[in-house]
Amino acid sequence: MSERIQAPRGTFDVLGDDALARDRLVETARRVLEPAGYARIETPTFEATELFARGVGESTDVVQKEMYTFDDGGGGSVTLRPEGTAPVCRAYLEHGMHKLPQPVKLWYLSSFFRRERPQQGRFRQFWQIGAEAIGSDDPAVDAESILLLAEILEAIGARGLRLRLASLGRPASRAAYRAELTAHLRANQDRLSPEVRERIDLNPLRAFDADHPGTREVMEGAPRLLDFLADDDHEHFEAVKALLDAAGVVYEPDSTLVRGLDYYTRTVFEYTSDALGAQSGVGGGGRYDGLMEQIGGAPAPGMGWAAGVERMLLASPPQPVAPPPVDLYVAYAKPEHRAAAFRLAADARRAGHASRLELAGRSLKGQLKQAGRAGARYVAILGDEGTSLKDMETGEQKTVEPDAVMHHIRGTL
Ligand code: HAM
Repeated sequence: MSERIQAPRGTFDVLGDDALARDRLVETARRVLEPAGYARIETPTFEATELFARGVGESTDVVQKEMYTFDDGGGGSVTLRPEGTAPVCRAYLEHGMHKLPQPVKLWYLSSFFRRERPQQGRFRQFWQIGAEAIGSDDPAVDAESILLLAEILEAIGARGLRLRLASLGRPASRAAYRAELTAHLRANQDRLSPEVRERIDLNPLRAFDADHPGTREVMEGAPRLLDFLADDDHEHFEAVKALLDAAGVVYEPDSTLVRGLDYYTRTVFEYTSDALGAQSGVGGGGRYDGLMEQIGGAPAPGMGWAAGVERMLLASPPQPVAPPPVDLYVAYAKPEHRAAAFRLAADARRAGHASRLELAGRSLKGQLKQAGRAGARYVAILGDEGTSLKDMETGEQKTVEPDAVMHHIRGTL
């Protein structure tokens, strides 16, 4: 026998109760997002590499080392999407969505790909539920977006949550801050990890994210971005916080919050859960007012978030998942009844009843056992003496005309 082929590292199959739990999570998200005006969007699994290189940022880990990039066979380079914001912005531009009433609100449930080291809660193919609101820089957009994720996490009973919130300001104030921070890092470079030292100029903000003890000490004394915000950015941030306060959303202002993607301006936030291990990020996002221009479009502000489906499920208690109900199980005694049984099951489905048909050549006894296991409400048994219908709830069994099965069950289901 040849060697059995396994799923690639960092990927997983979704089946059984996990599949049902996912469906329920997605339904919860839909129930929260759609009444708030978010419409579903699905973008392609791969995009031009340039979209992420420019959109997500050349200096990010995602672009530098985590993308699955390949030749498209026609001289172009394409990449399996590592995130959803740049693709949604591309779609906004491509479909002229600026002509619609703003902000345009879109949500997605998609799988994403990052070549990361797999571990608990960190995969190479994972799923996100995400929501983007494009076309308005009103602080109420930020607060509403965060509130919607809070509502989803609450609805699924996610445990041990913390919401960290910061503002990065706009590029101008960030440049001034960056110069200060770089100077601070340079002055203390001997105590930094080699990785941070090498990237002082490329991405000094990432130093806040380091686990390295020396780096952490240096960062405790580092200048804070929130102290450098321009007046209007500061006002914007204060307004977002006031709206979250009004909605009763609890958050921790945290100027050390670092997001792994470069497109953020002003508001950034992240939900973590202490029910997760080292990969504690459940979901996060922020404002990206410059992203449209970076990918070649007319300016349009945007705000959104994405939350990992696997991490949301890991952070919430397992809930009993009921298998879908079976209204009618169609059993038959001999192969010559198969066609009639097949027709009955099909008719029942057409009439809106969940119906199952014996498909594995079991004995009649085996079929009845199977019907019991599936929790069927009725079992129709087709035999030489006609069709009998058993009500599994009452145990009552009667002989009926084959065409009358539906008539009998309709009233009770
Ligand atoms: P992100 O923080 O890179 O943001 O990812 C969002 C969430 O996706 C994380 O909080 C985590 O739950 C999940 N996630 C990320 N990487 C993995 C992985 N390797 N395995 C499992 N789960 C993972 C974004 O992707 C932005 N596009 C969010 C956004 C939307 N910002 C504005 N709009």
